[in-house]
Amino acid sequence: MKVLVVGSGAREHALSWKIRSSPSVKEVYCAPGNPGMARVADRVPIDPSAIVELADFAEKIKIDMTLVGPELSLTLGIVDEFQKRDLPIFGPTQAAAAIEGSKVFAKEFMTRYKIPTAPFDIVATAEEARAVLKKRKGGYPVVLKVDGLASGKGVVVAKDKKEADQAIESMLVEKRFGVAGERVVIEDCLEGSEASFFALSDGERVLPLVTCQDYKRLQDADRGPNTGGMGGYSPSVHIDADAFRSVMDGIMKPTIAGMAADGRPYRGILYAGLMLTKEGPRLLEFNARFGDPEAELIAVRMKSDIVPVLQATLAGRLEEINIEWLKARSVCVVLAAKGYPGEPSTGDAIAGIDAAEKLEGVEVFHAGTAVKSGAYMTSGGRVLVVTALGGSFAQAVQRCYAGAEAIQFDGKQHRTDIAREAIEAVAQK
Ligand code: AMP
Ligand code: GLY
Repeated sequence: MKVLVVGSGAREHALSWKIRSSPSVKEVYCAPGNPGMARVADRVPIDPSAIVELADFAEKIKIDMTLVGPELSLTLGIVDEFQKRDLPIFGPTQAAAAIEGSKVFAKEFMTRYKIPTAPFDIVATAEEARAVLKKRKGGYPVVLKVDGLASGKGVVVAKDKKEADQAIESMLVEKRFGVAGERVVIEDCLEGSEASFFALSDGERVLPLVTCQDYKRLQDADRGPNTGGMGGYSPSVHIDADAFRSVMDGIMKPTIAGMAADGRPYRGILYAGLMLTKEGPRLLEFNARFGDPEAELIAVRMKSDIVPVLQATLAGRLEEINIEWLKARSVCVVLAAKGYPGEPSTGDAIAGIDAAEKLEGVEVFHAGTAVKSGAYMTSGGRVLVVTALGGSFAQAVQRCYAGAEAIQFDGKQHRTDIAREAIEAVAQK
């Protein structure tokens, strides 16, 4: 089989690495990939947004299956383009990807199908937004979200009126998000622990994967700015058997049924960003793709061959699949460049990747790296994701941080408290 992976982050590296290990796979291509992925895949210099070129490539070299990492390709309609040409591709169509691509669509969908989420209003002008703030009962903090994709930058949790006014100014007066910010969701701020829940769907059936915890803030103890993700662990200690059942029955299954009823059948991976509140799990948002770094955590724990799982999902045969998981825990930490999440420093030499990879249970996935004269250099904000398996959270953490310490580059920054809460939760049981 020939498989094409679209994207260039550590998520795509981990998925390519897992696909590469399948006995049925002879060739893996990645578009455009990264230097780390070059060890498991052939790089093709096509941008993930160039969906017609990607389909031309898949047609020309007879790709048997394509897996899409980034949401942008999905919302641009890569799946529709491939399906038009009878090219097998894993992921939701453009109409189904609206569940991530439009927060307005997603929130209205949740209301229609009674999926538990924060109460909200939708506004299109600064006047409407100010009027909503004045009359709403929720008080502060309040959450403001632009409708469209904004690389994680379109959400503001405003702690008081001043911050909410600033967000309104930037979203609806200065229009900093362009068309993505034409409409804004204003919603109650929920309290609790966040967790990530993943399920595959073939349009009808829902097969859950393992749960994950990710760490979005830059610094230890959840301080500092939000980022694309600084690390994580799996399984989440916040989702017990009751919460798991309530997410499946109250969120995932009604969503897949609702999308089918709306004429937008959802095939692919559905990623629910949850807030586990005292009243039960609430949906913060849906994503139409694998998470990053959650894909890294999931890939190393999956014992089954991933390729038949992906094929059954896209062929509508999910009932045939039973995924086996390693009992082991996984932990990952992101090594970020100086300046991240602002303007990251690039071109710094990276040492020690080989040494980290030799450690037991450790895999190093590349995100923002480049190669110059045969050596790795930094080339983006999130540089590497060191991922480790262990028999316990404590062992996985120890291995993960041994890997992180083995790698050196100027200005390297990372969190030091990933999965500490999981070790503590286990100790308290
Ligand atoms: P989203 O893109 O909707 O997941 O929002 C990004 C982040 O903002 C989430 O991971 C949460 O940390 C935070 N957030 C979003 N909505 C809410 C909410 N209603 N209450 C509390 N925090 C939220
Ligand atoms: N881990 C957050 C995301 O992938 O959106």
